[in-house]
Amino acid sequence: MTEPLLSVQGLEKHFPVTKGLLQRQVGAVKAVDGVSFDVRKGETLGLVGESGCGKTTTGRLITRLIEPTGGKVIFEGHDITHMSQGKIRPLRRDMQMIFQDPYSSLNPRHTVGAIVGAPFKIQGVQTEHGVKKAVQDILALVGLNPEHYNRYPHEFSGGQRQRIGIARTLALKPKLIIADEPVSALDVSIQAQVVNLLEDLQNELDLTYLVIAHDLSVVRHISDRVAVMYLGKIVELADRKGLYESPMHPYTNALLSAVPIPDPKGKAGRERIRLQGDVPSPLNPPPACRFHTRCWKAREICKTEEPPLLQLAPGHQVACHFPENAPAAAEPTAEPTAEPEVAAQT
Ligand SMILES: Nc1ncnc2c1ncn2[C@@H]1O[C@H](COP(=O)(O)OP(=O)(O)OP(=O)(O)O)[C@@H](O)[C@H]1O
Ligand code: SF4
Ligand SMILES: [Mg+2]
Repeated sequence: MTEPLLSVQGLEKHFPVTKGLLQRQVGAVKAVDGVSFDVRKGETLGLVGESGCGKTTTGRLITRLIEPTGGKVIFEGHDITHMSQGKIRPLRRDMQMIFQDPYSSLNPRHTVGAIVGAPFKIQGVQTEHGVKKAVQDILALVGLNPEHYNRYPHEFSGGQRQRIGIARTLALKPKLIIADEPVSALDVSIQAQVVNLLEDLQNELDLTYLVIAHDLSVVRHISDRVAVMYLGKIVELADRKGLYESPMHPYTNALLSAVPIPDPKGKAGRERIRLQGDVPSPLNPPPACRFHTRCWKAREICKTEEPPLLQLAPGHQVACHFPENAPAAAEPTAEPTAEPEVAAQT
């Protein structure tokens, strides 16, 4: 198999919690706590989980907007985890992030031309027919009128603003785009248009995506593989078919039951699983399996031993002592003997 475009290995971000005048550290928010996955060239990996599970932090760590407390980020075979800002600058062209909120992520005082053209200026990139022409070409590519070059963000609708955000990320022809909840702030009627646009652009420009979302219905259409996160950890990672048709982790099952996804096997719909309680705080996550406080299958071992992320079917990894839909030979895994790391890289 070819080398992945991006490889995230045991990534950690523990935000310190300080107290008093001396800013003494009294704890840490374990926002991302040992996350590993690969993104292959040309694919779309969906990263899904409830609010606060660490999705945005993962995106910001990969793009080096914040420093990790542990683990590695490998991009095109280079370890960029602690690369200096000077060295990372050229790489910023190759890796771009689309932000969740198309209202606050665009500077209201800048014209569309200035916003989409800014990356050229920041990176000092020369264009054959001038920046204006390059920007107008990108506006047309994302379905906006190139004549609107001198307009301001408030003159556009939410969907159009997200197109402006997408245009800005495309300016320097990146290889990897991390789209952080690109449609969650938009009307449902517009969401499909923006998702379709992302898909068209991927085919046209040979892009690789990491698409972040908080529910499984948004990424279903666009993802080749999906990773499910819970409280700073990946609990399941599988290709689309495996994840939606045979989810193994109880949490994935609960997420799936909460969204109206047509059942491909034609069953009379999934049974609705209501999760008890709120997501616990990442400041003080439950020990062992972090999902045990809400899991209806939890047994004693779930409270004392952390289930490692293991590959139980080809390309299908899950971190659960009592997985569902697992091939017969793979269960039960209450006493895991395999190396946890084996599963992290496929
Ligand atoms: N700069 C920070 N300092 C301290 N804690 C932070 C910081 N940034 C994020 N966190 C905490 O880290 C956890 C993960 O946050 P993150 O924004 O990554 O979650 P998310 O999965 O993107 O959630 P959402 O779906 O709401 O966007 C949250 O508990 C959040 O409060
Ligand atoms: S390890 Fe136990 S508590 Fe955790 S998801 Fe599996 S069954 Fe539930
Ligand atoms: Mg977020």
